[in-house]
Amino acid sequence: MAILAPTRDNIERAATVLERGGLVAFPTETVYGLAADAFDSDALTRLFAAKGRPQNHPVIVHVDATSWLERLVSEIPAEARALAALFWPGPLTLVLERSTQVPDAVTGGQETVGVRMPRHPVASQLLRAFGGPLAAPSANRFGRVSPTTASHVLEELGERAAMVLDGGPSEVGLESTILDLSGGEVVLLRPGAVTEDDIHKVLGRRPARPGVSSPRSPGRLASHYAPRTPTRLVPRGGHARAVPSGDLRLGVLSLGSEPISFRGLWKQLPARPEAAGKCLYAALRDLDNGGLDLIVVEEVPLTPSWAAVHDRIAKATAASRQQGEGP
Ligand code: TXA
Ligand code: MG
Repeated sequence: MAILAPTRDNIERAATVLERGGLVAFPTETVYGLAADAFDSDALTRLFAAKGRPQNHPVIVHVDATSWLERLVSEIPAEARALAALFWPGPLTLVLERSTQVPDAVTGGQETVGVRMPRHPVASQLLRAFGGPLAAPSANRFGRVSPTTASHVLEELGERAAMVLDGGPSEVGLESTILDLSGGEVVLLRPGAVTEDDIHKVLGRRPARPGVSSPRSPGRLASHYAPRTPTRLVPRGGHARAVPSGDLRLGVLSLGSEPISFRGLWKQLPARPEAAGKCLYAALRDLDNGGLDLIVVEEVPLTPSWAAVHDRIAKATAASRQQGEGP
């Protein structure tokens, strides 16, 4: 895969690859995405294969204008219009009733479609050059940590995509907030940079939490966004107690600073939630590549502004909890 600067020529080249049914990775303000023509079922088959993603999981459709909603969606509730008016372009995905024009591969066979308008300039330029909606999951292998730089994309996908447009490190660093408005209610499927407080300000109420009947969504699987190294969640300041005795190569991700006596790989998260979200995935990736036996992640606060980081940390550490995996 070529890592290309986002020049006008390279963006045109990327649009041509997409027009021919190929795959292109591109930057958004949240994380890097892997794009395919949202109306081309063969391209979507290639997209799912490149990610190693099950066919029944839906992908988000990216657009560069709200007017695309008329083509993609059968009904646009007033609340969706209000949210789009305020937060698009930006890190918010709206799940709405699909129109008949949306291929089944995009919706995972469900009656809804997720739509978002990204605000990264290279994403906008690519959408404009291509001239239509792009289906794009995060540009990582299924279940793994999302990429926030072009080299992360290369590490994840290798030759599975033709190119990645390099837009620098992702500004937000965590995937978009997903709101499901398809059932009359407003349901938060995935917390992100658009917070519950932001939504409350626009709609005058908080979004509901997903119930058992909510749609399938890999972002809602208990384990997701996970390193390969066994990764365990511990209370704040709890890294020392979590470690069994022996010569364990240990990594720690913490809001606290590295103790003088610590031997291992220590990553300190910034104290502000937005800054922590921005570097969370790069820190997890560095720890995962550190040749460690165990990664210990310390809890972050459970306040609304930390919700997105809290959610991703819970998912990154879920496999170890469920399977009792690792030392
Ligand atoms: O920030 C983002 O949203 C990034 C960038 C590239 O835009 N994309 C992203 O895509 O995170 P992906 O596929 O890795 O995660 C999208 C999430 C999945 O959990 C998927 O199931 C959910 O969105 N989703 C998509 N369409 C849906 C639908 N119709 N109903 C419910 N969930 C949906
Ligand atoms: Mg993803």
